Amino acid sequence: MTAIPGLQLSNRSQRASRGAISFLMQQGVENPGVLSLAAGLVDPSTLPVELAQQQLTELLGDDSRARECLQYGTTPGSEHLRQEMLPFFATLEKTTSEELGLSSDDIVLTTGSQQLLALTCDALFDPGDICLVAAPTYFVFLGALEAVGARAISVKTDGDGMCPEALNETLADLEQKGELGRVKLIYLVSYYENPSGVSLATDRRKRIVELAKEWSKSHRLMILEDAAYRELQYDGEVYPSIWSFDADRQHVIYTQTFSKSFSPGVRVGFGILPEELKKPFSDLKGNDDFGSAHLNQRLMANVLLSGQYGEHVNQVKDSYTAKRDAMLAAADKYFSDIEGVTWEHPHGGLYVWMSLPENIPTGFDSRLFEEAVQRHNVMYVPGELCFAADAVERNHMRLSYGMLPPDRIDEGMRSLADAIRVIASQI
Ligand SMILES: Cc1ncc(COP(=O)(O)O)c(C=O)c1O
Repeated sequence: MTAIPGLQLSNRSQRASRGAISFLMQQGVENPGVLSLAAGLVDPSTLPVELAQQQLTELLGDDSRARECLQYGTTPGSEHLRQEMLPFFATLEKTTSEELGLSSDDIVLTTGSQQLLALTCDALFDPGDICLVAAPTYFVFLGALEAVGARAISVKTDGDGMCPEALNETLADLEQKGELGRVKLIYLVSYYENPSGVSLATDRRKRIVELAKEWSKSHRLMILEDAAYRELQYDGEVYPSIWSFDADRQHVIYTQTFSKSFSPGVRVGFGILPEELKKPFSDLKGNDDFGSAHLNQRLMANVLLSGQYGEHVNQVKDSYTAKRDAMLAAADKYFSDIEGVTWEHPHGGLYVWMSLPENIPTGFDSRLFEEAVQRHNVMYVPGELCFAADAVERNHMRLSYGMLPPDRIDEGMRSLADAIRVIASQI
C-alpha cells in the first residue's frame, strides 16, 4: 500500500495554532469536578430564554416573514437590525440618532465581535506589520494577530489602561528604528478589559486619538476600539467611547457584541467602520460568509424593538454585580494574608485580575496550575497568555465570575488560596 503523503498546511494555519483555548477546554473536559474560574462564558441562569422564545415565535409565526428571515441576508447584515442599531448606539453615546451622524451604511453586522476583530486583521495587516496592544490584553486577539503574521508590541499599561506617554515613546522608538511604516493599529478593549477588568481613563481616550492622528505620517494609524463589555457596568464612572473623540470619523473602528448582554449563542456583533474600510470589509466578509446568520440578526432586531432588552440587561447586570461582589469578598477573606498578592476591583465586565509574587508563576506548566487543578479542584486562566511575546509576565491569573453562582465562586476562591499557600510555603 502506498503511504498517503502528509498534508501541507499553509503558514497561516500553522501560525494559528497557539492552542491555549483548546488546552483550557481540554482541562475542563478531563477534570469535570473542577470549579472553573477560567471560563469566560456567560451565566447560563441569566440567558434570555423566554424573551428569545417569544420573539422567535413572533418572527416565525407569520409565514411570509418567516420565509424572509430564513432566507440569506446581505453581506453587511440585515437592514432591520442596522436601522435599530442607530438608536441603540445613540443611547449608549448619550445622544440622539440624528446627532450621531451615522447611517445604517456605516454599520456592519458580524458573527460575534470576534469576526470583526479577525476581519480587521485581514484588512490591515501583512506579515511583519505591527499592532500596539495593552499589557495585558485580550488573548484571543493576540492569536488573531499571530495568525496573519502581525507583530504585537506591548505598550505600558496601568490601572487606568494604556499609558499615552508610553504609547508616544513606543511610536517614537519605532520611528527611529525605521519601523513606523509597519505600525497599522492600536488595539484597545475600552471597558472593563478582558483580562484586567480596567477601563481606559477618559483623558487617555482623548489623548490616544490625538496621538493616532499625530503619528499618521506615511499612512493612517487606526485604533480598534473593542467595547465588548460596555453594557456590563456595575458601578463607577461612565466612560465616553474612544470613538466619540474621533470627530472626523477616520481613525476609530468600533466594535461591540450582544454576546455578553444577551446571548453568545446568537453570535451577533457589530462594527462601525470609517468610510474607507467599508468596501474592504465587505469584500473580505463576502469571501468569508457573504453575511452572518440572518435569522439571528432579525431576532436581535425584534428584541431591541420589543422594548424588553433594557430590562434584560439590568437583570444580567444585577446578577453579575452580586457575583463580582462575591469574588471580591472571597478575595478579601482568603487572600489578604498571603504576602504579595494583589487584585483589581473591576467596575464591570466578567474578570478579576490577580497578581502573585514574581516567584510564583501561574502558567499551564507551573506547579501552581497543577496544584490548583489536580489537588484543589479549581482552574484559572494563566495571565501569561494575555501578554504579547515582547513583555510576558508570568505571575498573574485571570479569574472569571461569569459562570459560577456566588457560593461556588466563594468555594473556588478558597481552594485557589489554599493552592497558592501550598506553593508559597515550598519556595
Ligand atoms: C474583549 C473581547 N472582545 C471580543 C470578544 C468576542 O466575543 P463575541 O465574538 O462573542 O462577540 C470577547 C469574548 O469573550 C472579548 O472578551
